[in-house]
Amino acid sequence: MKLTIIGTGYVGLVTGTCFAEVGHKVVCVDNNEKKVQMLRAGGIPIYEPGLEEMVKKNVAAGRLSFTSSTKEGVEKSDVIFIAVPTPPQPDGSVDLSFIETVARDIASAMTSYKIIVDKSTVPVKTGDKVAETIKRYCKAKVEFDVISNPEFLREGFAVEDLMKPDRVVIGVRSQRPVQAMKDVYTPFNAPIIVTDINSAELIKHAANSFLALKISYINAVANICEASGANVEEVATGMGMDIRIGRRFLHAGLAFGASCFPKDLSAFIKISETLGYDFALLKEVVQINADQMDRFLGKIRDTLWVLKDKKIGVLGLAFKQNTDDVRMSPAIELCQRLIKEGASLRVYDPKAMEKAKEVLKNATYVDDMNAIADGCDAVVIATEWPEFKKLDLDRARKALTHPIMFDGRNLFDPREMEAMGWIYKSVGR
Ligand code: UDX
Repeated sequence: MKLTIIGTGYVGLVTGTCFAEVGHKVVCVDNNEKKVQMLRAGGIPIYEPGLEEMVKKNVAAGRLSFTSSTKEGVEKSDVIFIAVPTPPQPDGSVDLSFIETVARDIASAMTSYKIIVDKSTVPVKTGDKVAETIKRYCKAKVEFDVISNPEFLREGFAVEDLMKPDRVVIGVRSQRPVQAMKDVYTPFNAPIIVTDINSAELIKHAANSFLALKISYINAVANICEASGANVEEVATGMGMDIRIGRRFLHAGLAFGASCFPKDLSAFIKISETLGYDFALLKEVVQINADQMDRFLGKIRDTLWVLKDKKIGVLGLAFKQNTDDVRMSPAIELCQRLIKEGASLRVYDPKAMEKAKEVLKNATYVDDMNAIADGCDAVVIATEWPEFKKLDLDRARKALTHPIMFDGRNLFDPREMEAMGWIYKSVGR
Protein backbone atom coordinates (compact mmCIF):
# COMPACT_ATOMS: atom_id res chain seq x y z
CA MET A 1 0.00 0.00 0.00
CA LYS A 2 1.03 3.61 -0.44
CA LEU A 3 1.25 5.30 2.95
CA THR A 4 2.27 8.76 4.12
CA ILE A 5 3.40 9.60 7.64
CA ILE A 6 3.43 13.24 8.69
CA GLY A 7 5.97 13.89 11.45
CA THR A 8 9.25 11.99 11.75
CA GLY A 9 9.68 11.96 15.53
CA TYR A 10 9.94 8.71 17.48
CA VAL A 11 6.48 7.50 16.52
CA GLY A 12 6.43 8.72 12.92
CA LEU A 13 9.90 7.59 11.90
CA VAL A 14 9.68 4.14 13.47
CA THR A 15 6.13 3.58 12.22
CA GLY A 16 7.01 4.64 8.68
CA THR A 17 10.12 2.47 8.65
CA CYS A 18 8.30 -0.61 9.95
CA PHE A 19 5.50 -0.09 7.40
CA ALA A 20 8.17 -0.05 4.67
CA GLU A 21 9.82 -3.12 6.18
CA VAL A 22 6.64 -5.18 5.67
CA GLY A 23 6.40 -4.07 2.04
CA HIS A 24 4.35 -0.85 1.99
CA LYS A 25 5.60 2.14 0.01
CA VAL A 26 6.06 4.94 2.52
CA VAL A 27 6.64 8.69 2.30
CA CYS A 28 7.67 10.37 5.55
CA VAL A 29 6.99 14.09 5.77
CA ASP A 30 8.62 16.53 8.18
CA ASN A 31 8.53 20.32 8.11
CA ASN A 32 12.11 20.42 9.41
CA GLU A 33 14.09 20.59 6.16
CA LYS A 34 17.39 19.88 7.98
CA LYS A 35 15.99 16.67 9.43
CA VAL A 36 14.68 15.60 6.02
CA GLN A 37 18.12 16.17 4.49
CA MET A 38 19.76 14.25 7.31
CA LEU A 39 17.40 11.30 6.82
CA ARG A 40 17.90 11.37 3.05
CA ALA A 41 21.65 11.23 3.63
CA GLY A 42 21.24 8.13 5.81
CA GLY A 43 21.46 9.90 9.20
CA ILE A 44 19.09 9.02 12.05
CA PRO A 45 18.14 11.79 14.50
CA ILE A 46 17.42 9.38 17.39
CA TYR A 47 19.04 6.28 18.87
CA GLU A 48 16.69 3.35 18.61
CA PRO A 49 18.01 -0.24 18.42
CA GLY A 50 17.65 -1.70 14.92
CA LEU A 51 16.25 1.47 13.37
CA GLU A 52 19.26 2.73 11.42
CA GLU A 53 19.80 -0.51 9.51
CA MET A 54 16.09 -0.79 8.79
CA VAL A 55 15.87 2.78 7.45
CA LYS A 56 18.91 2.25 5.20
CA LYS A 57 17.60 -1.06 3.89
CA ASN A 58 14.18 0.33 3.01
CA VAL A 59 15.50 3.55 1.47
CA ALA A 60 17.81 1.44 -0.72
CA ALA A 61 14.87 -0.77 -1.70
CA GLY A 62 12.89 2.31 -2.77
CA ARG A 63 10.13 1.68 -0.22
CA LEU A 64 10.95 4.60 2.11
CA SER A 65 11.45 8.25 1.17
CA PHE A 66 11.49 11.61 2.91
CA THR A 67 10.11 15.01 1.97
CA SER A 68 9.27 18.32 3.60
CA SER A 69 6.21 18.80 1.41
CA THR A 70 2.86 17.78 2.93
CA LYS A 71 1.30 18.35 -0.49
CA GLU A 72 3.60 15.76 -2.04
CA GLY A 73 2.89 13.33 0.82
CA VAL A 74 -0.87 13.74 0.40
CA GLU A 75 -0.73 13.33 -3.38
CA LYS A 76 1.36 10.16 -3.22
CA SER A 77 -0.83 8.12 -0.84
CA ASP A 78 -4.40 7.24 0.01
CA VAL A 79 -3.75 6.67 3.70
CA ILE A 80 -2.15 9.55 5.61
CA PHE A 81 -0.97 9.12 9.19
CA ILE A 82 -0.59 12.09 11.51
CA ALA A 83 2.28 11.56 13.96
CA VAL A 84 3.12 15.05 15.20
CA PRO A 85 3.82 16.10 18.80
CA THR A 86 0.97 16.87 21.19
CA PRO A 87 2.96 18.62 23.94
CA PRO A 88 1.58 19.50 27.37
CA GLN A 89 0.52 23.04 28.23
CA PRO A 90 1.29 24.59 31.63
CA ASP A 91 -2.16 23.58 32.99
CA GLY A 92 -1.67 19.92 31.97
CA SER A 93 -3.98 20.08 28.95
CA VAL A 94 -2.74 19.07 25.50
CA ASP A 95 -1.53 21.52 22.87
CA LEU A 96 -3.28 20.41 19.69
CA SER A 97 -1.98 23.16 17.45
CA PHE A 98 0.36 20.87 15.46
CA ILE A 99 -2.53 18.47 14.81
CA GLU A 100 -4.73 21.34 13.66
CA THR A 101 -2.07 22.74 11.32
CA VAL A 102 -1.44 19.34 9.75
CA ALA A 103 -5.19 18.71 9.35
CA ARG A 104 -5.49 22.03 7.50
CA ASP A 105 -2.45 21.28 5.33
CA ILE A 106 -3.83 17.86 4.42
CA ALA A 107 -7.23 19.37 3.65
CA SER A 108 -5.74 21.97 1.29
CA ALA A 109 -3.76 19.31 -0.59
CA MET A 110 -6.59 16.76 -0.96
CA THR A 111 -8.00 16.22 -4.44
CA SER A 112 -9.40 12.68 -4.01
CA TYR A 113 -10.73 10.36 -1.25
CA LYS A 114 -8.23 9.98 1.61
CA ILE A 115 -8.08 8.11 4.89
CA ILE A 116 -6.57 10.33 7.57
CA VAL A 117 -5.28 8.39 10.54
CA ASP A 118 -4.39 10.02 13.83
CA LYS A 119 -1.46 8.24 15.49
CA SER A 120 -0.51 11.01 17.91
CA THR A 121 -1.81 10.69 21.47
CA VAL A 122 -4.80 13.02 21.68
CA PRO A 123 -7.69 13.74 24.05
CA VAL A 124 -10.94 11.90 23.44
CA LYS A 125 -13.09 13.66 20.82
CA THR A 126 -10.09 15.03 18.88
CA GLY A 127 -11.09 12.90 15.88
CA ASP A 128 -14.33 14.88 15.58
CA LYS A 129 -12.39 18.13 15.54
CA VAL A 130 -9.95 16.84 12.93
CA ALA A 131 -12.86 15.77 10.70
CA GLU A 132 -14.55 19.16 11.15
CA THR A 133 -11.30 20.99 10.29
CA ILE A 134 -10.66 18.92 7.17
CA LYS A 135 -14.21 19.46 5.96
CA ARG A 136 -13.87 23.18 6.49
CA TYR A 137 -10.50 23.61 4.73
CA CYS A 138 -10.86 21.11 1.88
CA LYS A 139 -11.57 23.27 -1.15
CA ALA A 140 -11.88 20.28 -3.48
CA LYS A 141 -14.80 18.99 -1.32
CA VAL A 142 -13.71 15.36 -1.72
CA GLU A 143 -14.76 12.53 0.59
CA PHE A 144 -12.51 11.39 3.44
CA ASP A 145 -12.49 9.32 6.62
CA VAL A 146 -10.78 10.18 9.88
CA ILE A 147 -9.50 7.29 11.99
CA SER A 148 -7.90 6.98 15.41
CA ASN A 149 -5.03 4.49 15.55
CA PRO A 150 -3.06 5.09 18.77
CA GLU A 151 0.55 3.94 19.05
CA PHE A 152 1.78 1.95 22.05
CA LEU A 153 5.51 1.68 21.29
CA ARG A 154 8.09 2.03 24.04
CA GLU A 155 11.25 4.00 23.34
CA GLY A 156 14.26 1.70 23.23
CA PHE A 157 12.04 -1.15 22.03
CA ALA A 158 10.18 0.80 19.36
CA VAL A 159 11.07 -1.39 16.38
CA GLU A 160 10.27 -4.56 18.31
CA ASP A 161 6.95 -3.13 19.57
CA LEU A 162 6.00 -1.95 16.08
CA MET A 163 6.88 -5.20 14.35
CA LYS A 164 5.19 -7.37 17.00
CA PRO A 165 2.36 -5.32 18.52
CA ASP A 166 0.18 -6.80 21.30
CA ARG A 167 -2.82 -5.31 19.51
CA VAL A 168 -3.74 -2.76 16.87
CA VAL A 169 -6.53 -0.35 17.79
CA ILE A 170 -8.55 1.22 15.00
CA GLY A 171 -11.28 3.74 15.83
CA VAL A 172 -13.67 4.52 12.97
CA ARG A 173 -16.89 6.42 12.25
CA SER A 174 -17.91 4.26 9.29
CA GLN A 175 -17.03 0.85 7.84
CA ARG A 176 -15.61 2.30 4.60
CA PRO A 177 -11.94 2.62 5.71
CA VAL A 178 -11.83 -0.59 7.80
CA GLN A 179 -10.58 -2.97 5.09
CA ALA A 180 -7.81 -0.59 4.02
CA MET A 181 -6.63 -0.31 7.63
CA LYS A 182 -6.71 -4.09 8.00
CA ASP A 183 -4.59 -4.34 4.85
CA VAL A 184 -2.07 -1.93 6.38
CA TYR A 185 -1.74 -4.05 9.51
CA THR A 186 -2.29 -7.64 8.32
CA PRO A 187 1.48 -8.20 7.76
CA PHE A 188 2.08 -7.59 11.47
CA ASN A 189 -0.03 -10.61 12.53
CA ALA A 190 -1.54 -8.88 15.56
CA PRO A 191 -5.12 -8.86 16.87
CA ILE A 192 -6.97 -5.87 15.40
CA ILE A 193 -9.62 -4.15 17.52
CA VAL A 194 -12.08 -2.09 15.50
CA THR A 195 -14.03 0.36 17.64
CA ASP A 196 -15.44 3.89 17.60
CA ILE A 197 -13.06 6.86 17.53
CA ASN A 198 -13.76 8.08 21.07
CA SER A 199 -13.04 4.64 22.55
CA ALA A 200 -9.83 4.29 20.53
CA GLU A 201 -8.61 7.67 21.74
CA LEU A 202 -9.47 6.79 25.33
CA ILE A 203 -7.72 3.41 25.15
CA LYS A 204 -4.38 5.20 24.80
CA HIS A 205 -4.76 7.51 27.79
CA ALA A 206 -6.37 4.80 29.91
CA ALA A 207 -3.59 2.29 29.10
CA ASN A 208 -0.67 4.64 29.75
CA SER A 209 -2.22 5.97 32.96
CA PHE A 210 -2.76 2.40 34.16
CA LEU A 211 0.89 1.50 33.52
CA ALA A 212 1.99 4.61 35.43
CA LEU A 213 -0.40 3.62 38.22
CA LYS A 214 1.20 0.17 38.32
CA ILE A 215 4.65 1.72 38.80
CA SER A 216 3.44 4.14 41.49
CA TYR A 217 1.71 1.23 43.21
CA ILE A 218 4.90 -0.83 43.42
CA ASN A 219 6.85 2.25 44.51
CA ALA A 220 4.35 2.77 47.34
CA VAL A 221 4.69 -0.93 48.24
CA ALA A 222 8.49 -0.42 48.17
CA ASN A 223 8.12 2.18 50.89
CA ILE A 224 6.19 -0.29 53.05
CA CYS A 225 8.89 -2.88 52.34
CA GLU A 226 11.58 -0.48 53.55
CA ALA A 227 9.62 0.25 56.71
CA SER A 228 9.01 -3.43 57.44
CA GLY A 229 12.22 -5.11 56.30
CA ALA A 230 10.58 -6.89 53.35
CA ASN A 231 12.08 -7.03 49.84
CA VAL A 232 10.02 -5.35 47.10
CA GLU A 233 11.55 -7.52 44.35
CA GLU A 234 10.34 -10.66 46.12
CA VAL A 235 6.93 -9.07 46.74
CA ALA A 236 6.64 -8.02 43.07
CA THR A 237 7.61 -11.51 41.87
CA GLY A 238 5.02 -13.09 44.16
CA MET A 239 2.36 -10.61 43.02
CA GLY A 240 3.34 -10.85 39.37
CA MET A 241 2.92 -14.63 39.19
CA ASP A 242 -0.82 -14.02 39.42
CA ILE A 243 -1.56 -13.79 35.69
CA ARG A 244 -4.23 -11.20 36.41
CA ILE A 245 -1.44 -8.90 37.68
CA GLY A 246 1.73 -9.85 35.74
CA ARG A 247 5.35 -9.05 36.70
CA ARG A 248 5.95 -6.36 34.07
CA PHE A 249 5.89 -2.71 35.17
CA LEU A 250 6.30 -3.77 38.78
CA HIS A 251 9.90 -2.54 39.07
CA ALA A 252 10.28 -0.17 41.97
CA GLY A 253 12.79 2.61 41.48
CA LEU A 254 13.71 6.20 41.37
CA ALA A 255 10.37 7.30 39.80
CA PHE A 256 9.09 7.05 36.25
CA GLY A 257 9.80 9.68 33.63
CA ALA A 258 9.80 10.13 29.86
CA SER A 259 7.81 12.16 27.46
CA CYS A 260 4.71 9.95 27.73
CA PHE A 261 3.66 8.93 31.25
CA PRO A 262 3.90 12.33 33.00
CA LYS A 263 2.28 14.11 30.04
CA ASP A 264 -0.45 11.51 29.50
CA LEU A 265 -1.31 11.41 33.19
CA SER A 266 -1.72 15.19 33.35
CA ALA A 267 -3.72 15.14 30.14
CA PHE A 268 -6.03 12.37 31.36
CA ILE A 269 -6.62 14.18 34.66
CA LYS A 270 -7.46 17.34 32.71
CA ILE A 271 -9.66 15.52 30.16
CA SER A 272 -11.60 13.89 33.03
CA GLU A 273 -11.99 17.26 34.75
CA THR A 274 -13.33 18.78 31.51
CA LEU A 275 -15.80 15.91 31.26
CA GLY A 276 -16.94 16.51 34.86
CA TYR A 277 -15.03 13.75 36.68
CA ASP A 278 -12.37 14.24 39.34
CA PHE A 279 -9.87 11.43 38.65
CA ALA A 280 -8.31 11.70 42.13
CA LEU A 281 -6.68 8.27 41.81
CA LEU A 282 -4.44 9.55 39.01
CA LYS A 283 -3.54 12.67 41.00
CA GLU A 284 -2.21 10.32 43.68
CA VAL A 285 -0.17 8.43 41.04
CA VAL A 286 1.53 11.72 40.15
CA GLN A 287 2.10 12.58 43.81
CA ILE A 288 3.63 9.17 44.67
CA ASN A 289 5.99 9.59 41.74
CA ALA A 290 7.12 13.02 42.93
CA ASP A 291 7.56 11.71 46.50
CA GLN A 292 9.64 8.82 45.22
CA MET A 293 12.33 11.17 43.93
CA ASP A 294 12.25 13.11 47.22
CA ARG A 295 12.65 9.91 49.21
CA PHE A 296 15.63 8.83 47.13
CA LEU A 297 17.32 12.20 47.60
CA GLY A 298 16.51 11.88 51.30
CA LYS A 299 18.47 8.59 51.41
CA ILE A 300 21.49 10.27 49.82
CA ARG A 301 21.27 13.16 52.30
CA ASP A 302 20.83 10.84 55.29
CA THR A 303 23.97 8.92 54.40
CA LEU A 304 26.26 11.65 53.06
CA TRP A 305 24.85 14.30 55.44
CA VAL A 306 25.98 17.62 53.91
CA LEU A 307 25.85 17.48 50.10
CA LYS A 308 27.73 20.72 49.55
CA ASP A 309 31.16 19.94 48.02
CA LYS A 310 30.49 16.20 47.95
CA LYS A 311 31.60 14.42 44.76
CA ILE A 312 29.11 11.96 43.36
CA GLY A 313 29.45 9.66 40.35
CA VAL A 314 26.13 9.13 38.57
CA LEU A 315 25.57 6.18 36.22
CA GLY A 316 22.70 6.82 33.83
CA LEU A 317 21.20 9.97 32.31
CA ALA A 318 18.58 8.62 29.89
CA PHE A 319 15.06 8.22 31.26
CA LYS A 320 15.49 4.47 30.89
CA GLN A 321 17.71 1.85 29.23
CA ASN A 322 18.17 1.51 25.45
CA THR A 323 17.51 5.14 24.59
CA ASP A 324 19.40 8.42 24.28
CA ASP A 325 16.28 10.34 25.29
CA VAL A 326 16.70 12.59 28.33
CA ARG A 327 13.33 14.38 28.14
CA MET A 328 11.65 14.27 31.56
CA SER A 329 14.40 11.92 32.72
CA PRO A 330 14.35 11.19 36.46
CA ALA A 331 18.15 10.76 36.22
CA ILE A 332 18.57 14.31 34.94
CA GLU A 333 16.21 15.68 37.60
CA LEU A 334 18.19 13.88 40.28
CA CYS A 335 21.48 15.30 38.94
CA GLN A 336 20.06 18.81 38.81
CA ARG A 337 18.82 18.56 42.38
CA LEU A 338 22.15 17.20 43.64
CA ILE A 339 23.99 20.05 41.90
CA LYS A 340 21.55 22.55 43.41
CA GLU A 341 22.46 21.25 46.85
CA GLY A 342 26.14 21.89 46.12
CA ALA A 343 27.37 18.45 45.05
CA SER A 344 29.70 18.12 42.07
CA LEU A 345 28.98 15.30 39.66
CA ARG A 346 30.81 12.91 37.40
CA VAL A 347 28.27 11.40 35.02
CA TYR A 348 28.17 8.60 32.45
CA ASP A 349 25.55 7.14 30.13
CA PRO A 350 26.15 4.64 27.29
CA LYS A 351 24.03 6.58 24.77
CA ALA A 352 22.57 9.77 26.24
CA MET A 353 25.62 11.94 27.01
CA GLU A 354 25.37 14.15 23.94
CA LYS A 355 21.71 14.97 24.56
CA ALA A 356 22.32 15.33 28.31
CA LYS A 357 25.02 17.96 27.70
CA GLU A 358 22.33 20.31 26.39
CA VAL A 359 20.34 20.21 29.64
CA LEU A 360 22.96 19.30 32.25
CA LYS A 361 25.89 21.60 31.68
CA ASN A 362 27.77 21.77 34.97
CA ALA A 363 28.76 18.13 35.37
CA THR A 364 31.91 16.25 34.37
CA TYR A 365 31.16 13.75 31.61
CA VAL A 366 33.31 10.62 31.72
CA ASP A 367 33.78 8.22 28.82
CA ASP A 368 34.49 5.11 30.83
CA MET A 369 31.81 3.68 33.11
CA ASN A 370 34.50 2.14 35.32
CA ALA A 371 36.07 5.56 35.99
CA ILE A 372 32.80 6.93 37.39
CA ALA A 373 33.81 6.64 41.06
CA ASP A 374 37.28 8.18 40.74
CA GLY A 375 37.73 10.72 43.53
CA CYS A 376 34.05 10.52 44.54
CA ASP A 377 32.24 10.12 47.86
CA ALA A 378 29.47 7.92 46.47
CA VAL A 379 28.08 6.32 43.33
CA VAL A 380 24.45 6.64 42.23
CA ILE A 381 22.67 4.42 39.70
CA ALA A 382 19.89 6.40 38.06
CA THR A 383 19.01 4.43 34.88
CA GLU A 384 18.43 0.70 34.45
CA TRP A 385 21.06 0.09 31.72
CA PRO A 386 21.94 -3.64 32.02
CA GLU A 387 25.66 -2.94 31.44
CA PHE A 388 25.84 -1.12 34.77
CA LYS A 389 25.61 -4.55 36.39
CA LYS A 390 29.09 -5.15 34.94
CA LEU A 391 30.58 -2.14 36.75
CA ASP A 392 34.05 -3.01 38.06
CA LEU A 393 32.96 -2.95 41.71
CA ASP A 394 36.43 -3.63 43.00
CA ARG A 395 37.87 -0.63 41.21
CA ALA A 396 34.93 1.57 42.24
CA ARG A 397 35.26 0.52 45.88
CA LYS A 398 38.94 1.45 45.90
CA ALA A 399 38.36 4.73 44.04
CA LEU A 400 35.75 6.02 46.50
CA THR A 401 36.64 7.69 49.78
CA HIS A 402 34.21 5.19 51.33
CA PRO A 403 32.31 2.51 49.38
CA ILE A 404 28.80 3.98 49.23
CA MET A 405 26.28 3.25 46.48
CA PHE A 406 22.71 4.52 46.02
CA ASP A 407 21.01 2.23 43.54
CA GLY A 408 17.83 3.82 42.19
CA ARG A 409 17.21 0.85 39.88
CA ASN A 410 17.88 -2.17 42.14
CA LEU A 411 20.58 -3.59 39.86
CA PHE A 412 22.67 -5.30 42.55
CA ASP A 413 21.95 -7.81 45.29
CA PRO A 414 21.94 -6.02 48.68
CA ARG A 415 23.40 -8.99 50.59
CA GLU A 416 26.24 -9.48 48.10
CA MET A 417 27.03 -5.76 48.11
CA GLU A 418 27.09 -5.61 51.90
CA ALA A 419 29.27 -8.73 52.02
CA MET A 420 31.75 -6.89 49.77
CA GLY A 421 31.87 -4.01 52.25
CA TRP A 422 29.55 -1.56 50.51
CA ILE A 423 27.09 0.75 52.19
CA TYR A 424 24.40 -0.05 49.66
CA LYS A 425 21.01 1.70 49.57
CA SER A 426 18.47 0.63 46.99
CA VAL A 427 14.67 0.96 46.68
CA GLY A 428 12.27 -1.14 48.74
CA ARG A 429 14.88 -3.59 49.99
C1 UDX B 1 5.51 4.33 27.54
C2 UDX B 1 4.56 3.15 27.32
O1 UDX B 1 5.16 1.96 27.86
C3 UDX B 1 4.25 2.99 25.84
O2 UDX B 1 3.30 1.94 25.66
C4 UDX B 1 3.69 4.31 25.31
O3 UDX B 1 3.45 4.21 23.93
C5 UDX B 1 4.66 5.46 25.57
O4 UDX B 1 4.94 5.51 26.98
P1 UDX B 1 8.13 4.76 27.26
O5 UDX B 1 7.86 6.09 27.88
O6 UDX B 1 8.95 4.69 26.03
O7 UDX B 1 6.74 4.01 26.91
O8 UDX B 1 8.89 3.87 28.34
P2 UDX B 1 8.52 2.78 29.44
O9 UDX B 1 9.35 1.58 29.19
O10 UDX B 1 7.09 2.58 29.58
O11 UDX B 1 9.11 3.48 30.77
C6 UDX B 1 8.61 4.73 31.25
C7 UDX B 1 9.24 5.06 32.59
O12 UDX B 1 8.77 4.18 33.60
C8 UDX B 1 10.77 4.98 32.63
O13 UDX B 1 11.27 6.09 33.34
C9 UDX B 1 11.04 3.69 33.37
O14 UDX B 1 12.27 3.70 34.05
C10 UDX B 1 9.87 3.65 34.34
N1 UDX B 1 9.51 2.31 34.80
C11 UDX B 1 9.01 1.41 33.90
C12 UDX B 1 9.63 1.98 36.14
O15 UDX B 1 10.07 2.78 36.97
N2 UDX B 1 9.22 0.73 36.54
C13 UDX B 1 8.73 -0.19 35.68
O16 UDX B 1 8.38 -1.30 36.15
C14 UDX B 1 8.61 0.16 34.32
